[in-house]
Amino acid sequence: MSTQAAPRPATARAYPNIALVKYWGKRDEALMLPVAGSLSLTLDAFATTTTVEVRAELTADEFSLNGVAQSGDSLGRVTKFLDLVRSMAGSTQFAVVTSINEAPTGAGLASSASGFAALAVSAAAAYGLDLDRPELSRLARRGSGSAARSLVDGISVWHAGDGDGTSFAEPVEAPEMSMIIVTVDARQKAVSSRTAMRRTALTSPFYPAWAPSTEQSLAAMLEACHDRDFSRIGRITETHALRMHALIQSADPPIRYLSPVSIAVFDAVAALREAGVEAYATADAGPNVAVISRPEDAQAVAEALAEYGSVRVVGAGAGAMLIDPDDATPAEATA
Ligand code: PMV
Repeated sequence: MSTQAAPRPATARAYPNIALVKYWGKRDEALMLPVAGSLSLTLDAFATTTTVEVRAELTADEFSLNGVAQSGDSLGRVTKFLDLVRSMAGSTQFAVVTSINEAPTGAGLASSASGFAALAVSAAAAYGLDLDRPELSRLARRGSGSAARSLVDGISVWHAGDGDGTSFAEPVEAPEMSMIIVTVDARQKAVSSRTAMRRTALTSPFYPAWAPSTEQSLAAMLEACHDRDFSRIGRITETHALRMHALIQSADPPIRYLSPVSIAVFDAVAALREAGVEAYATADAGPNVAVISRPEDAQAVAEALAEYGSVRVVGAGAGAMLIDPDDATPAEATA
């Protein structure tokens, strides 16, 4: 890592990731270290594109998201993250952060993952930090844990690690798969994942079983990826997702992210399997459902699930990267 005086504005693009083995709970809130490792697919849709410009004349950071100036918590999280970048770079200058997010924010489509991955890459460059991929993954982790994985192309494992230096994501070889995103409700979720993780850890009687069970799922998942065994990957994915939602529901007061329509999608996916189409469902901290299938089955799965919400077939996408600021228009408009 080397530092120098703040250079010119930097623009980065990152995509969300959907975990097949989930991260739910921190063992260190300040360093954002997870209680267990996790594994995810970085998508090729719903990009966040972020520009960071350091300006000597500013007296505070400014942050706009999709053209709307942010304040309160939304600005606070960005400022806190930039404070970390500034401390690494030895800078006291504030910045203007301009972000375009193509996914419905806060609806469980992991927009915080693409958001902090894009911010990590653009802010590091704007403040003159020269970081490698594991260092960028560790930095993104400090904004939002799951963002650590959006630094990596396709399937990645985020190691729980034994401290800040070893808790980052890296690539995993796996069979090609498609993901069918079923957006059943694009509104902001009622309880943030941060609040819900904390409450689950403090109040669920089942929480002590969660970290060891996740480590077991992760070990089995890494084996299944290595063996290119899609059926096993799928079974672990769905079982693990339902375990996480059961755990979250067992908090006091309970938190339930899945809606009746989400449950109907899980049932429809089970019915597809009965009919011989291999598909498996998962869901993050929201009602939307992500279904994995072999690429050749994706259209059939998408058609079968279209009655439950808006459906989008996506595949493996690239880890967060710097882009030319002239390309800062939405990825899907230029694709
Ligand atoms: O990183 P956060 O605070 O957005 O939490 C992510 C939690 C889940 O999406 C539910 C699981 C995961 O591993 O992405």
